[in-house]
Amino acid sequence: MEYLLAYSHRRVPTALRPIDALANGGTIAAVAEASGMPPVRVQGIRSFYDQLHSPAEVRVCTGTSCHFARGASDLPAGAGEVRCLGHCYAAPALQRGDVTHDRIGANTPVPRRSLVDPPVVLRHVLGGPRSDDAACLPDGESILLHLESSGLRGRGGAAYPTAAKWRAARDAPGDIKYVVANGDEGDPGSYVDRLLLEEDPESILVGMLACARVTGGTHGIVYIREEYPEAQRRMKAAIAAWRHGRELQVEVVSGAGSYVCGEETALLRSIEGLRGEPWPKPPYPTTSGLWDRPTIVQNVETLVTVAQLAQSGHGARSKALSISGAVREPGVVEIRLGTSVREVLERGAGGEIPGRPWKMALIGGPMGRVLPVSLFDTPLSYGALPGMGHGGIVMLDDRVTPGALARHLFDFARAESCGNCTPCRVGTQRLAGCRDRSSLERLMETMSLGSLCGFGQGVPTPLRDLLQHFGDEVFNT
Ligand SMILES: Cc1cc2nc3c(=O)[nH]c(=O)nc-3n(C[C@H](O)[C@H](O)[C@H](O)COP(=O)(O)O)c2cc1C
Ligand code: SF4
Repeated sequence: MEYLLAYSHRRVPTALRPIDALANGGTIAAVAEASGMPPVRVQGIRSFYDQLHSPAEVRVCTGTSCHFARGASDLPAGAGEVRCLGHCYAAPALQRGDVTHDRIGANTPVPRRSLVDPPVVLRHVLGGPRSDDAACLPDGESILLHLESSGLRGRGGAAYPTAAKWRAARDAPGDIKYVVANGDEGDPGSYVDRLLLEEDPESILVGMLACARVTGGTHGIVYIREEYPEAQRRMKAAIAAWRHGRELQVEVVSGAGSYVCGEETALLRSIEGLRGEPWPKPPYPTTSGLWDRPTIVQNVETLVTVAQLAQSGHGARSKALSISGAVREPGVVEIRLGTSVREVLERGAGGEIPGRPWKMALIGGPMGRVLPVSLFDTPLSYGALPGMGHGGIVMLDDRVTPGALARHLFDFARAESCGNCTPCRVGTQRLAGCRDRSSLERLMETMSLGSLCGFGQGVPTPLRDLLQHFGDEVFNT
């Protein structure tokens, strides 16, 4: 309590954050002493985050693209595991210290292209001219009107209307309000946010400033996963050069290795330096978020889109997707929402690799959707493919069986559940033990209905698709 009282009087979390103190080698006793927390609480924080309790110099990526690209080959002795390094386009990857090595080389740049002309999300990373976009932002009311008429939905997964969130935050009373950019990007198969954090951090800051203008935000925080050290460096450099700090002061806060910390309430707990466990909503962060103050959490790509849209009112139909797996030209592709999956794969990713016929696509990560090839004419849009999340596509060829994909998803769920609520904690442990359709369906029903956050509720989504499209192949392949 002493810690929380001391800490909550700070406006920005630069000091006293137990996660940072532990990551920098602080002992439990020293961190407990400095923070005023009981040692057992500090121990609870350390045990929550992979990089605090088992830091490893070499970490092998076990995300979906890397998992299937690596096949049965052995992992280096003594290496740790990490769920995704955001190098899915050149899988398999591993990280040694700060450097990520993939199939092509070290710190390989992300291939990128646009099917939209002119591009919106990728306009700067594709070389578009830079101007002081922040200086061109209109007043808050005009920005809100642009957002409302455009119908922009958040790009982080839940597809919630951005204008509605900002209006709620604007109307929430409070002298201090936080604008948080979510750069946690833990979903295997997604690396759009890493590209934007590394190559266009300025547009993220402009989007945050637009949010502050609408909502009355006073402090900005960019939360970036620790697996992205280069993104953290580049964002810090952009903040150092940021000329609008008087209107919105921004700082970077690092994750410490937890997938669930991408969920907005878990993320806020993590910024506070605590275990990243989600809380049941309400209260929503817009009224009671960081240190109980109104807080707007927005995905990195959403903010980059807002930076453009706030000025022109256009851009809400553009979406960047990460494409990896069995395609000729993996990379980040900007598309117009509503383009069919087939067209995206053919025009945006070079189509099928000769000799490796497509079997299915995992769209939107491990809580997203599975589409068999027969449904590739489905438009990629929130309406036509509900649950498509961030829309990143991992293409799987016919060497990957439905059973192999199911087992990979079971492993992911078991490893990443935060354990905070029973249906998810126990359910994710038991998924792999289900040997027939009806027992798996019963378990998934319990998880969807009873889990506290979108993780346990979402784990069944791709598994239901697998059952619907491939039936018993899920159990016998
Ligand atoms: C388990 C889980 C993980 C999530 N991970 C992320 C993430 O890495 N990045 C992100 O922007 N949103 C993530 N989200 C969604 C966030 O909770 C939140 O909806 C989003 O950051 C809001 O921003 P947006 O409206 O701009 O999408 C996750 C949600 C869940 C349930
Ligand atoms: S649903 Fe899973 S991840 Fe979410 S709070 Fe419950 S145990 Fe944690």
